[in-house]
This record gives sequence, structure tokens and C-alpha cells, in this order.
Amino acid sequence: IPDHRDGEDTIAKRAHYSPPWADVSIIGVAGSSGSGKTTLSHAIVNSLNLPWVVIMSMDSFYKPLDPESSKKAFRNEWDFDAPEAIDFDELVNCLRDLKAGKRTKIPNYSFEKHARLENSTVIYSPHVLILEGIFALHDSRVLDLMDMRIYCEADADTCLSRRIIRDVRDRGRDVEGCIKQWFAFVKPNFENYVQPQKNVADIIVPRGIENRVAMSMVTQYIERRLLEKSTRHRAALKSLERGYDSE
Ligand code: C5P
Repeated sequence: IPDHRDGEDTIAKRAHYSPPWADVSIIGVAGSSGSGKTTLSHAIVNSLNLPWVVIMSMDSFYKPLDPESSKKAFRNEWDFDAPEAIDFDELVNCLRDLKAGKRTKIPNYSFEKHARLENSTVIYSPHVLILEGIFALHDSRVLDLMDMRIYCEADADTCLSRRIIRDVRDRGRDVEGCIKQWFAFVKPNFENYVQPQKNVADIIVPRGIENRVAMSMVTQYIERRLLEKSTRHRAALKSLERGYDSE
């Protein structure tokens, strides 16, 4: 922004100019556990060729558990697949901060401990934010902040086998526990809450990143939206500068 300040009355205030960094594009990627949301999100980042793209996982917003609930979690008897497990208020606050061009703090989560870690991650408003999680398209406040809503689809066998491999390798679980949790919580909640998010998706991506056609549609759409935004910002800035010249 050119430095045309007089007191508190900045160029931004006078003409409601919204700077590009206060105009982050938020893309939601929802889908079943093991459907390939994270891989799809990384593939979008790689194909976008933009300097400032952040992937935010909704796992960061799991609510902390009291000792009794934590014990249940270690026995695979805690329901992490109902929307109540997620602190949506906290997520919305973080997204609103970023949307307003401010920095925000994201909690760090440990799947091995079923708990938040002491430290958190500070992030600054990026050009594009990809929010990925089983409930990325669940909350209407979050949906309102989004520019694009993607639902990542894969068949249940693929999801379950991917999840077992990942949970045993990376999340400190055993095969029996994974299967118990899948049938008690993951599968029924998928049918009740996760799958219906398809109805609010702009794009449904079958077969995740193997689906080259859908991938290139997604990136082309994002690039077009960003170009439109930057053209709007340039036009707004030009008309402000013209206004100042004629003062
Ligand atoms: O990465 P993904 O989308 O699979 O992460 C969501 C899954 O993580 C949920 O299906 C939930 O069952 C699982 N989860 C877990 N233990 C936790 C928190 C979440 O198994 N402490």
C-alpha cells in the first residue's frame, strides 16, 4: 500500500481496501479417514506453484480429554469420530484470524498420547489455506469462510487398510485396536456425519490423487480464483491512487 497516511485515516480505512494478505483463499478437503485427504492436499500444494500455501489439519482441534476419557481412548473405546470431539469454536476463531490477515496459534496434537502437546504452532495468513479433516465441511461457520469445498472419496476397504497401516506405523496403535475402533466409531459416524458432507461439496474427487483429471480441475479452479482476486486488488489500488492524485 502506498504510504498516504494522515493520522489514523489510512488508505485502507478510507476506501475499504482489503489487502491481499487479508484475503486468504480457504479450501476445505473432507472425506473418510484413510481416503487420501492429506495426500490430495499435498498434491494440490505441489501443483499450485505459489509461495505461501498452508495445510491445516483439523486433528489439531481435537478437544483435550479428562483422565477418565483418556483411559478409554487408550482402550480404543473413545469416540473421536463424532463432531463433538472437535473444538469447532476454536477452529473458527483461528480461521477468522487468518481471514482477517492476522497470525494465529494452532495447537499441536499427538495421536500416540491422545492429547494436545504443550507447544503450539504460530502461522501467518497465507495466500491459500487448505483445511483437511474428516469434518472439514461440517460446520456452517467454516463453510461460510471457504472458497472451495472438496470431498475426497475412496472405497471403505481402501480406507480401512490404509488406516491400519498408518495407525500401526505412525500412531502407536495395534491392529486389533484399529479394527475395534473402526467398527465401533469410525464406520457408523462416517455414515452419519462424514459422507453427508458430499452434499455441500463443490467437487467430489473419486480415487484421490490417482484421479489426474479431477486434480487438474481443482488446481485450475484455484489458480483462476486467485488471479481474479489479484486483478480485483490491483484495480482497487489503482482507483485509490487516482483518488489521491486528484485530491
Ligand atoms: O487423519 P485422519 O483423517 O484419519 O484422522 C481422523 C481419525 O483420527 C478419526 O477417524 C479418529 O478416529 C482418529 N483419531 C484417533 N485417535 C485420536 C484422535 C483421532 O484414532 N486421539
